[in-house]
Amino acid sequence: MLIDAAARLEPDALRCPFPAYAELRERGVTFVEAANAFLVTRAEDIDTVLRDVETFSSRNAIGAPPIPPDSELAKRVPFLLLSDEPEHSARRRLVQRAFTPSRLAKFEPRMRELCTELVEGMRGRTEVDFMAEFAVPLPIAVITTVLGVPDDEAPSLRRLSEELAGTVGHHGADPAEIVRIAEEFAALLAPSLEAAAAAAEEQTILHTIAAAERTAGLPRHDSTRFVMELLIAGNITTTDHIGNSMMLLARDPELADRVRQDPSRLMYFIEESLRLESPIQGLFRMATRDTEVGGTAIPAGSRVQVMFGAGNRDEALVERPDELDLARKSPSAHLAFGKGIHSCLGNIVARMESRVALETVLGSIPRFELAVDAGAVEYLPSLANRGPVSLPLRLQW
Ligand code: HEM
Repeated sequence: MLIDAAARLEPDALRCPFPAYAELRERGVTFVEAANAFLVTRAEDIDTVLRDVETFSSRNAIGAPPIPPDSELAKRVPFLLLSDEPEHSARRRLVQRAFTPSRLAKFEPRMRELCTELVEGMRGRTEVDFMAEFAVPLPIAVITTVLGVPDDEAPSLRRLSEELAGTVGHHGADPAEIVRIAEEFAALLAPSLEAAAAAAEEQTILHTIAAAERTAGLPRHDSTRFVMELLIAGNITTTDHIGNSMMLLARDPELADRVRQDPSRLMYFIEESLRLESPIQGLFRMATRDTEVGGTAIPAGSRVQVMFGAGNRDEALVERPDELDLARKSPSAHLAFGKGIHSCLGNIVARMESRVALETVLGSIPRFELAVDAGAVEYLPSLANRGPVSLPLRLQW
């Protein structure tokens, strides 16, 4: 099967996994040894799995050994992503209001400043690695801004969230080390949470979390792990999305010109980029009982990888799925932010951030193209995350 090479993380297969997905959609749900999971690639089967949250659990789904429910470790794993009902919805209700368009709109000017600073850092240079110069530094700066964390604490919080992200799903991860990282993080975050609790108005995400501690009795360890979750969930995903979008534009300067000339197409471009080059290609669930999807038996205890990136190129979801079309009738009807109860809480932050980023880049750099052959661009060694490791661009000012 074509997918085996991608599941073994071979660079050529990861650069273009789409023929492998097409083969899998033909077969239906398939166990892939190298991924140690049943891969679900048809849009209809993805829908079935994501709806049936009792049969397909998010808890313990990342791939690590099951975590004892009463352990210290259980209090440190991500707050929403790895929780099941009824806790999941109760938790999400506590923080949801911090992620609405009206609450987030006031951060747009700061996002624009951050994007402008990064573009100014490249001004005059004719060749850059766009990932290092822009796509990597922007999302962490944005997420700490919307959280309301002081600038001088951001680097340490970032370091700790990266250390933690490195342990997620790692079979050999030492639980004591995870607890240590979480405790160091909690100590660092505590003064910001105290300051947020004293604020008169609820503006940042930390204000909302502090309010949930005060009014709903949200324990401090839950506040802490939610902030860590946001730093992890909102960081590499948005970096990859901006990198994937720039790859599409750099390979096709005419497409970039069309978006420059008609800015109303930018929103369509962003949705098509998310659909065609989904930053999260696939995430996990765990089957809680013997079951069946699309005719394939899945035994209890199996890992199931829901391949959003493959469902997004299914003809049953969208016509001409491999084409980038700037005039689709329902451009956001894709699976890049998931679907159902766990669908992306931060999608409004992500969409706003990539819009401001691309407006700034397209408006400030009159022309850019790939500085290497497209076949030489290396992608992350992962079947879960998709994004260029580095993106050498030639710029004309
Ligand atoms: C382009 C960027 C992004 C992409 C493609 C993306 C994608 C996703 C996907 C596919 C899920 C569903 C996971 C599942 O079903 O198991 C998800 C969940 C989540 N995302 Fe995002 N995300 C992005 C940006 C962000 C940002 C910026 C934040 C935070 C500000 C964020 C926070 C979250 C959280 C907290 C969840 C868990 C929601 C829950 O379990 O209820 N994401 N994201």
